Amino acid sequence: MNDKKRAIKISPIRKGTVIDHIRCGQSLKVLKILGLTDVEIRDVVSIAMNVESSSGKKDIVKVENKEISSEELDKISLISPETTINIIRDYEVIKKQRVNLPKRVSGIVRCRNRNCITNQREPVDPEFKVISSEPVNIKCIYCEREMKEEEISENLL
Ligand code: CTP
Ligand code: ZN
Repeated sequence: MNDKKRAIKISPIRKGTVIDHIRCGQSLKVLKILGLTDVEIRDVVSIAMNVESSSGKKDIVKVENKEISSEELDKISLISPETTINIIRDYEVIKKQRVNLPKRVSGIVRCRNRNCITNQREPVDPEFKVISSEPVNIKCIYCEREMKEEEISENLL
């Protein structure tokens, strides 16, 4: 096989969004966050896992015709803070944006402590302080329970 054939792993897209530099193993969670696991989805979606890149291995998700909301961006930042979002039109990257891991997270993750006030019948939205990004670790501002990546992705709202 020549080098060019070896290099082709996942085709460029004409129009849509490329979610790039996803932490290895997190691409399926990204699909879940974007609601792309539904059987009703008609858009073309491509996924690559464990692809070599300049900065080590990564996952990539490419979706045609998809706009990503700011809530979805925040969720992705929690499970993969180095992710970049590339908007593609006519095969060109017209906008590149890195997701931004916020200092505080409210309303998008449930506290894993069942006795936390945010899990009672009180009108208290869950809120966390982000205490580290590598690995991602967040701390509930009410009960101080810490949650790491795996727990965060299991408790996304
Ligand atoms: N891409 C694509 N279809 C296009 C254009 C780009 O799928 N029509 C993908 C590229 O394969 C890459 C990502 O979108 O995974 C970003 O493209 P580009 O900015 O051209 O690549 P890089 O400069 O390598 O990006 P970065 O610096 O963010 O790694
Ligand atoms: Zn809590």
